[in-house]
Amino acid sequence: MTQAPLRVRTPRFVQLQQDNPAAVRAELAAGLQASAAFTQPKYLYDALGSRLFEAITELPEYYPTRTEASIFAQHASEMAALLSVGLTLVDLGAGNCEKAARLFEVLRPARYVAVDISVAFLQGALQRLQRQHPALDMVGVGLDFSAHLTLPLAAGEGQRLLFYPGSSIGNFTPAQALVFLRQAHQAAQGGGLLVGVDLVKPVGVLVPAYDDALGVTAAFNRNMLLHLNHLLGSDFDVAQWRHRALYSTRHARIEMHLDAVQDVSVRWPGAQRHFRPGESIHTENSYKYTPPQFEALLRAAGFSQVNQWRDAQDWFAVFLART
Ligand code: AVJ
Repeated sequence: MTQAPLRVRTPRFVQLQQDNPAAVRAELAAGLQASAAFTQPKYLYDALGSRLFEAITELPEYYPTRTEASIFAQHASEMAALLSVGLTLVDLGAGNCEKAARLFEVLRPARYVAVDISVAFLQGALQRLQRQHPALDMVGVGLDFSAHLTLPLAAGEGQRLLFYPGSSIGNFTPAQALVFLRQAHQAAQGGGLLVGVDLVKPVGVLVPAYDDALGVTAAFNRNMLLHLNHLLGSDFDVAQWRHRALYSTRHARIEMHLDAVQDVSVRWPGAQRHFRPGESIHTENSYKYTPPQFEALLRAAGFSQVNQWRDAQDWFAVFLART
């Protein structure tokens, strides 16, 4: 008797349009030269920044990650019951791929597409995951979807479930979020979107989540200056900058800033900037929604069937939106 050959799948990898270093430098310099200096939140995530963010998710004050996980633990089978098996699970901002992997058993996807800004981040995680799920077709895609979400052909035909957990959608303004959700509706190809959303809640809960007693979020924010030194060739001295987090009720958003604690001169090839004491760099917005506000956004983006699950305190919501 002949033995069928053992078929060992291996993940495929695709890297799409990566920002070139000159464009990154130009974008950073423009933000730093603006009268109200700002940087994009994606620059918080160099190797150390990604590890500091993982540490943030373990802090007692940072409720989103564990609250979202508890919602999935309790309700994933109800979510799966609303979806067909054999679809393509597209993980937006996959990182270590852990959150999506927890859904494999209940969702039974035919293909898993992990998307992150750099395909290099995905290599180790996907190869490990492939060994645990030898029958699942796996694709790693390097793509900065914060600018525009269009998936490559490698992401496959047929219905896709776009998975966007963690409340990262809060980094977009509501107007940008609407644009992103329209693109997600298009990219789902008749499937759906499973998205985690942080909810409006008392300031006394929100602010400590972004200004923890240990100072991990402060380190995460200040580390961005080290990342900028690497990318831009600037000479930021982290000792001259203090972390500040505030909640703007008007915008329903947490804002993170870095405040100069003294007169600071920053130089980089071709330019420089002076900051007076208290002048700041705005490094992140994290928008919060009420459940009706977010449902309205999903419907405005073209989704017609919307389900949601929340924790007992109404601190976090998971929405399943179908086309
Ligand atoms: C990864 C964007 C969801 O906004 O809560 C955590 C980032 N910043 N602490 C958030 C973050 C400071 C986080 N997201």
